[in-house]
Amino acid sequence: MIEISPSLLAANFSKLSEELKKVENATYLHLDVMDGAFVPNITFGPGLISDIRSKSDLLFDTHLMIENPEKYIKSFAEAGSDLITIHVEATNHLHRLIQKIKDLNCRAGVALNPATNIDSIHYVLDDLDLILIMSVNPGFGGQKFIKSSLDKIRHLKDLKMQKAYNYKISVDGGIKLNNVKEVINAGADVIVAGSAIFKSENPTTTLSKFINMVKK
Ligand code: DX5
Ligand code: ZN
Repeated sequence: MIEISPSLLAANFSKLSEELKKVENATYLHLDVMDGAFVPNITFGPGLISDIRSKSDLLFDTHLMIENPEKYIKSFAEAGSDLITIHVEATNHLHRLIQKIKDLNCRAGVALNPATNIDSIHYVLDDLDLILIMSVNPGFGGQKFIKSSLDKIRHLKDLKMQKAYNYKISVDGGIKLNNVKEVINAGADVIVAGSAIFKSENPTTTLSKFINMVKK
């Protein structure tokens, strides 16, 4: 089953409780954490995640776009994350951090920027619960989908079938109702969508459309 992870980045932060209700039929809530150093934008930290934890039953899918992720993983786990994804480009100790995330009883993901090769995670493929393929350069919502990410999705899907790996393939950035099918056909298991859902006229209806599209 393909799962949807609406990205809170595109929501209206002045009325988060209402925004969360609109997407309660999704599986995950994607939480984009940006530090102004790893990416040229700043969002929120564990405090906000902990505050909204009681307002949503979705699985919290925390995407850390931060330098020195090892310093903060524990806080994000304690704030209520179910899944924590770190960027391979942000650490020299990928294997250690994946173990640390799992020791904190969270699922572990690794994100790959558009210019980062799959080879960079070769030695941890068997340890991962999720691989997040960035289909835009991280930092902002509302950017255009980068088509070459489809090849990366196909490649990871092939590897997964060949070696019976357990990771889910999640795809993040520029996904809309009119291109989600391509992303699914390439092999995605989880679809992250921010502006397509929260900036639409009726996020609940748009989410239902996404859910129906991925069922077919
Ligand atoms: C970008 C973030 C994405 C972003 C996606 O750095 O990682 O999760 O919210 O937004 P859209 O769906 O608008 O491209
Ligand atoms: Zn993200």
